[in-house]
Amino acid sequence: MPPAGAPVAGPPAGRLGSARLGRLAPDVAGWFAGVAAHRDDLVLDIVDVADHLLPASLDAHDPATAALRPRLAGADAYVVVVPEYNRSITGPLKTFIDSFQSEWQAKPVGFVGYGLGTAGGARAIEHLRQIFAEFHCVGMKDIVTFPRITEHYDARGRFPAEPEDAQAAAKVMLDQLLWWARALREAKAARPYAS
Ligand SMILES: Cc1cc2nc3c(=O)[nH]c(=O)nc-3n(C[C@H](O)[C@H](O)[C@H](O)COP(=O)(O)O)c2cc1C
Repeated sequence: MPPAGAPVAGPPAGRLGSARLGRLAPDVAGWFAGVAAHRDDLVLDIVDVADHLLPASLDAHDPATAALRPRLAGADAYVVVVPEYNRSITGPLKTFIDSFQSEWQAKPVGFVGYGLGTAGGARAIEHLRQIFAEFHCVGMKDIVTFPRITEHYDARGRFPAEPEDAQAAAKVMLDQLLWWARALREAKAARPYAS
């Protein structure tokens, strides 16, 4: 077991929860990755669902699914960057999550949401909480949201135009996530999780 206080593996941001042409996901996920990269207590691995459009048949032997398995299994925590589509998450992201099971098990999950409306992705995040509960995951209470996402760009197209609030929210969420990541890693090393 790595020594206490060692960087935890992850969070792999299930980064682009959108696979849409012209998506804004790279901006949101890119910003979050930059914030996370500044910390010395985690190692970031980024997974873009658009690079891994997994089969809707949930074929466990699909090569793309199999290739992702060790990456997801090796992470101590996850952060999902998710846009809100019709008050929920995107289809590709749901297929991605459903394509794995034990890999997610008993780990903490943080959320970064965004959308065109005032909810800022919060309704998609609440659905993600329910989905990840099925894997015995712990969802972080504090979240990062970008309501009215297009208003977070400055005149030059930089995102986010005023990053202070979002950075502070990301710090709170990541502090919680890393506490849980260490606690659960140590607990699972001492005693296998009883699922
Ligand atoms: C099919 C669809 C449904 C959407 N539904 C919502 C919604 O329920 N709430 C909201 O705030 N924004 C909604 N939006 C706006 C998206 O959240 C917004 O366009 C966001 O940029 C999408 O992420 P993406 O650009 O990474 O694909 C919807 C967009 C699409 C394409």
